[in-house]
Amino acid sequence: MHTEEIVPMMYTRNNQYDTSFVKENLMGPNALRMIDELAKSLKLEKGMRVLDLGCGKGLTSIYLAKEFGVTVFATDLWIGASENYERFKAMGVDDIVVPIHAEAHDLPYAQEYFDAAVSIDAYHYFGVEPDYLEKHFAPLVKKGGQIIVAVPGLKEEFTAGVPAGLAPYWCDDMKNTLHSREWWQDLWKASTAVSIKECKEMTCFREAWQDWLTCDHEFARKDIGMMADGGWEHFNLVSMIAIKR
Ligand SMILES: C[S@@+](CC[C@H](N)C(=O)[O-])C[C@H]1O[C@@H](n2cnc3c(N)ncnc32)[C@H](O)[C@@H]1O
Repeated sequence: MHTEEIVPMMYTRNNQYDTSFVKENLMGPNALRMIDELAKSLKLEKGMRVLDLGCGKGLTSIYLAKEFGVTVFATDLWIGASENYERFKAMGVDDIVVPIHAEAHDLPYAQEYFDAAVSIDAYHYFGVEPDYLEKHFAPLVKKGGQIIVAVPGLKEEFTAGVPAGLAPYWCDDMKNTLHSREWWQDLWKASTAVSIKECKEMTCFREAWQDWLTCDHEFARKDIGMMADGGWEHFNLVSMIAIKR
């Protein structure tokens, strides 16, 4: 078991969020830590329209609305719009966060509708497809708008095979979705729709994962062994910021 000291959940911007609310609504490594780390690079102004794709239970949508005053289209497949609407009402952001149930290849939005698009811990499920950025995501953003993505990834591609400790956990889902910073950078560089501003390993990796592993969720309990058996050593979080051309 990883023994690093647990860093309390505090966010650098205006609000602090109730720890039990956050833990109840996590679906993976703490998305609030991720968006908070990216916040200083976000060029968002009150009243802008932002797509939050794969928002899950809407933590990042709530954050963007509260911290920046932007209107967020909180879009997700596994979590229904009515469930998210209840959460947005409870958090007092239902006037500026719109819950939408949609699939990432069939998004119900006009081209260039958004000032910016965000996807935190979700883009790897669909964005690994070579033409996804060009065909589905980038067209929704206005020219000059930011496209911001953070995904779980690998410190290095497993070119010599999956490390022995991780082999028992290595399912097709992981094989298809987990990639290195360089892999993501090459994928986006190949697109004429965006210019990449940064592509980094995130510094919140350990804290974001610790938050997830210590929440009372059956998938989190399963992930404890995987992290101890090689995840801490081989995984990372990758963030990318690009500008729509
Ligand atoms: C690990 S959860 C993370 C949710 C949220 N972003 C967070 O970090 O708490 C991944 C999310 O991606 C969404 N997702 C996966 N595949 C999708 C698809 N094809 N279209 C839309 N959303 C998808 C799921 O609905 C799920 O909520």
